[in-house]
Amino acid sequence: MKHLLKLIDLDDDDITDILNLADQLKYEKKNNLSKKYLEGKKLGMIFQKSSTRTRVSFEAGMYELGGHALFLSANDLQIGRGEPVQDTARVLSRYLDGIIIRTYAQEEVESLARYGSIPVINGLTDFEHPCQVLADLMTIREFKGSLDGLKLCYIGDGNNMANSLIAGAVKTKMKISIACPKGYEPDKRIIEWASMNSDFLCTTDILSAAADADVLYTDVWASMGQESETQIRKAVFKGYQINDQVMAVAKPDAMVLHCLPAHREEEITEKVFEEHAKEIFEQAENRLHAQKAVMVLLMKDEDE
Ligand code: CP
Ligand code: NVA
Repeated sequence: MKHLLKLIDLDDDDITDILNLADQLKYEKKNNLSKKYLEGKKLGMIFQKSSTRTRVSFEAGMYELGGHALFLSANDLQIGRGEPVQDTARVLSRYLDGIIIRTYAQEEVESLARYGSIPVINGLTDFEHPCQVLADLMTIREFKGSLDGLKLCYIGDGNNMANSLIAGAVKTKMKISIACPKGYEPDKRIIEWASMNSDFLCTTDILSAAADADVLYTDVWASMGQESETQIRKAVFKGYQINDQVMAVAKPDAMVLHCLPAHREEEITEKVFEEHAKEIFEQAENRLHAQKAVMVLLMKDEDE
């Protein structure tokens, strides 16, 4: 693994290696055994969209690993004034040891990796959010013991989260079902790939998607960059919500996950959210451990 651009690219073994190292790093931190695996390394963090969890967990994670993180707002970089990503990549590669980027187009992340000579991590694009799903898989494994054969049901927009969850679930041998309104399905290529490789269902029927699920997952109806569609989406997605009716058809011990930020009474009721806050905030914490694992695997010197 040279970069983390999208989960669909990763080998199944890469995912297992990341999850195992993430568990180890979490254990080391809880037991005051943390080591400075990335002493002296520098991570650039380019953000073209807002962030709480991704920004803070990467910055704190790099600090904990003995390295340094530089927050690079796209508004302040020349990239915001039109400098091509190809040039930015070649320049930053001469100063830094790794880059995490949050942006709109997946192609921008791919170009950064193609033209630069250092590892690039996708911190969310319109297409995928791989760091989030690695933390999600870590959390499911933590609560359920293993992933193999579990059913994950995602209710809501066929967005970056849906695409990454499908890729992550299929690669870890989970069954996955998606409930979304017509016209808001996940990426076509991902649906085709999942249909060929797994027990995969994509339907408009929420209750049939959620039946016997071990994990229920949702995300906002309007993602970053879709603010102008908020009102239309409120009407389209009405009912695509994790609530007591949905919980009643899932397994009695089903977990609920949400990548956050959450919009209560839209994609999830306040009641279900608070009843499952233990899992949801462990999931948020696991962003830190999973991303530290990704950084160590991508940025640690080979001879160490
Ligand atoms: N889940 C997630 O990526 O959160 P932020 O947008 O706050 O980084
Ligand atoms: N789908 C959401 C995820 C936020 C973490 C967005 O892209 O805004």
